[in-house]
Amino acid sequence: MIFAVNSKATGGYFHVMPRTIFELPNDLLIGHMLIDDDHAKLVRLINETGAALQEKQYQESTRLIMEFIDGMKHHFDTEEAILLETEFPWIDEHIASHRQVILKLPRLIDECEKVIDGDQAWNKLIDNLVDCMMEDAFKADMVFKTFLTQNRS
Ligand SMILES: [Fe+2]
Ligand SMILES: [Fe+2]
Repeated sequence: MIFAVNSKATGGYFHVMPRTIFELPNDLLIGHMLIDDDHAKLVRLINETGAALQEKQYQESTRLIMEFIDGMKHHFDTEEAILLETEFPWIDEHIASHRQVILKLPRLIDECEKVIDGDQAWNKLIDNLVDCMMEDAFKADMVFKTFLTQNRS
């Protein structure tokens, strides 16, 4: 599930912005600055990983995936603290959904190795990074967004 593909080659040495493979749709903004910043950071890591894989910079892509895994775990901790603070009523379900995603994260490293060995296409790995991210940002966090909106008015 790749949402936006920008095939424009940047060329040259000055990559001011990494090529965008995946963009988070605006309606997936939660309306909480810390959460939205975290999601944006994770999206940026996905795009950087995609660019590194395309350029066969495998050491860099492995490093970025490890950063993505740490970033997801850190994000879940931050988010769970926010859910607690705002007295979100479905916190247990939300934490359970985070745990489900955490179980899938170590596989990303194995899949990166498959790409390096030439056994798998790089975009399949990017799809899996996007799936991990969307399982949180889309499936779980949208419930919190609704809660936040209702409690603000
Ligand atoms: Fe979440
Ligand atoms: Fe989230």
